Amino acid sequence: MADQHREFFYRRLHSLLGVVPIGIFLVQHLVVNHFAVYGEESFNRAAGFMANLPFVIVLEIFIIFLPILYHAVLGVYIAFTAKNNTSRFGFFRNWMFKLQRITGIITLIFIVWHVWETRVQVGLGNAEVNYSLMEGILTNPFMFWFYIVGIISTVFHFANGLWSFLVSWGITQTPKSQKIATYAVIVVFLVVSYIGVRTLIQFAYGV
Ligand code: HEM
Repeated sequence: MADQHREFFYRRLHSLLGVVPIGIFLVQHLVVNHFAVYGEESFNRAAGFMANLPFVIVLEIFIIFLPILYHAVLGVYIAFTAKNNTSRFGFFRNWMFKLQRITGIITLIFIVWHVWETRVQVGLGNAEVNYSLMEGILTNPFMFWFYIVGIISTVFHFANGLWSFLVSWGITQTPKSQKIATYAVIVVFLVVSYIGVRTLIQFAYGV
């Protein structure tokens, strides 16, 4: 019994962290990066502001790194042990359930690479966070498409995750409210994907 309680707690924490703080960080990160669309200087100012926040390393560890680490480790475990045969759901929900796990893995690969070539390189003193860093990465066509897939996968995972978060926490219990939530998260997916992809196009093509 104690084990079941513990597992319930771990799963609830996993679900919560996906939205607060990870989901909030994701949206904030993409919105700040979107300043690139208004020019190099705008982006450098916005990125510089974030990088110079007081106690930035403490914020990074507790608001970004540790929550993502927990969510990712338990996420990989869930993804590989989950029963994908959820026959009590319809065709659409079954697919969303599978895609949540697949995009979780793609997102993990993308995040590890992205953090390695940006934050870690800055930490090692090999790079500076600025427009040219991202321009240098994204003008390579392979990296451009890698980032397109990574961003769309991450945003899908977040938006679809919001739907299951609302169910997990008992916020959407009736079929009607779950249907409304489906439309709402589709809007979230389209708007946040647009913000992310638009920024990538700016870095790659300067338009
Ligand atoms: C920016 C990164 C990420 C965000 C914003 C995010 C967000 C979310 C959200 C909101 C949920 C829904 C929680 C719920 O079901 O109640 C979720 C679920 C999930 N996430 Fe993530 N996540 C991210 C990264 C990852 C990574 C790297 C993995 C690793 C594979 C992962 C694996 C999973 C899995 C397997 C679920 C389903 C859990 C379940 O059905 O119980 N996530 N995520």
